Amino acid sequence: MLGVAGGIAAYKAVEVLRGLAESGHDVTVVPTEAALRFVGEPTWAALSGQPVATSLWQQTQQVPHVRLGQQADCIVIAPATADLLARLVTGIAGDLLTNVVLTARCPIVIAPAMHTEMWLHPATAANVATLRDRGAIVLDPAVGRLTGADSGPGRLPDPALIVDVVRSALRGSTQRPLTDLAGLRVVVTAGGTREAWDPVRYLGNRSSGRQGVAVARAAVARGARVHLVAGAMDVPPPAGVDSTVVESAEQMLQSVRQSLVACDVLVMAAAVADFRPATRRDAKIKKEAGLPELHLEPTVDILASLCAERAGSRPLIVGFAAETARDDEELLELGAQKFHRKGCDLLVVNDVGGAEPVFGSDRNQVVILAGSGLAGSGPAGVGIVARVGPADKTTVAHGIWDAVRAHLAAAPTPTAVNPTD
Ligand code: CTP
Repeated sequence: MLGVAGGIAAYKAVEVLRGLAESGHDVTVVPTEAALRFVGEPTWAALSGQPVATSLWQQTQQVPHVRLGQQADCIVIAPATADLLARLVTGIAGDLLTNVVLTARCPIVIAPAMHTEMWLHPATAANVATLRDRGAIVLDPAVGRLTGADSGPGRLPDPALIVDVVRSALRGSTQRPLTDLAGLRVVVTAGGTREAWDPVRYLGNRSSGRQGVAVARAAVARGARVHLVAGAMDVPPPAGVDSTVVESAEQMLQSVRQSLVACDVLVMAAAVADFRPATRRDAKIKKEAGLPELHLEPTVDILASLCAERAGSRPLIVGFAAETARDDEELLELGAQKFHRKGCDLLVVNDVGGAEPVFGSDRNQVVILAGSGLAGSGPAGVGIVARVGPADKTTVAHGIWDAVRAHLAAAPTPTAVNPTD
C-alpha cells in the first residue's frame, strides 16, 4: 500500500508507484485529501491499475480501513509530511490513511519530505524517534534545493531508494527479520581516496564506490541509521543516507573518527591510498621544468589505527581486503594475514585480480573471515564465516550484514579455513 500525504513531493511518489508496479507488486494507493490537491485520483488509478482508496466512507460494506491495513504486505508512505508524522505518533486517525496504518501489522517504510525548519524542529525529531523506536523504517530526507529558494535537508529521498527499501522490507518479511539492524548506528566508508600532488594531479585508485554504497543502502533497508564517508566515487551517495564527502586518507580518518562517537558498526569498504606524495606542491608542476621526481610517504592506516584505538569491543569493525591471488588457498592466506595485521572483527576478502572484474562492476564475490578462536584451526586461527557470490553487490552487501548480525548476536562458530574445502 502506498500512502501519499499532502506535500509538493507527492508528484515524485508517482515514480515510487511506477517502480513498485514495474517490479510486479500490486499497489493500492491511499492519498490523503490534501495529497489529491497535488496529484489527482486518475493518475494514481491509471498507474496502479487499482481503484484508489480515498475515504473512510467509500465501500463501507468492505470496512476498507481494516481490510487495507490487514491485507497489506508492506506500507510505504511517501511523502510523509510533518503533520502526518505527528498523527502517526499519537494514533489520531481522522482519515483513511491513518486508520489503515493503525490496523496494519506489516513493515512500514516512511519517506518524509518537508521544509528544513520543519524537519529539524524538535517536535518532528521526537516524532521520528518514536516511530523508529516502534520499528518503522523512517528514511532521512535528502539534502538539496527545496520548493522555494531555500535548500537543506527536506527533499523526498530518491524514489529508486524508496523502492529498494520497500523491496528489501518485503524480502525481509520472508527471508530475514525486517528491521534486524534497527537501532544500530553504522558508519560506512566507500570509494577511493585521492592524494594531491599539485593543484591538478593526484594519486588515486580504481574504486567506484559501488560496493560501499550497496553496503550503506542495505543497512538503511534493514533499519540502521547510516553515515557514509565517501571518497571519490563513480556513483552518487544514496539520497536518504547522511553522507560526508572527503578527498584524502587523512580527511577520511578525521571524518570517520568524528562519527565513531556514536557508532555501533564501522564498515571500511573504502580503497584508501597507502602512499601519498611527500610534498604537495602549491603551484602546478610545469612540463618545461623537465621530468619531476615524485617522493612518496605512507598514509595512515585508518582501519588498523581505529581498531587499535577502540576501547573494548565497540564499535564492531569490518575491514575489506582487496587481493590478487593465484588461487583460493593463497587468497585465504593473504586474508588471514591481513585480518591479524588490521585487528578487525570481520574481514571481507575479495579477489580483485580474478576473471570477473570487481572495480567498476555491479558484481562481486567475497569470503568473510573472523577469528575462529580455535588454535591451529587454519591459517593462524582465522575462520570462514561466509562465502557470498558471485552475485550483484546488493546481495553481497546483505551477506555482509548477515555476518555482522551473527557476530553481534553471539560469537560465531566459523569453520576453519581449509583450502581444500
Ligand atoms: N585501509 C585503511 N587505511 C589505509 C589502507 C587501507 O583503512 N591506508 C583499509 C581499507 O579500507 C580496507 C583494508 O584496510 O578495509 C584493507 O585494504 P587493502 O587495500 O586490501 O590493504 P592494505 O592495508 O592497503 O594492504 P596491501 O595494499 O598491502 O594489501
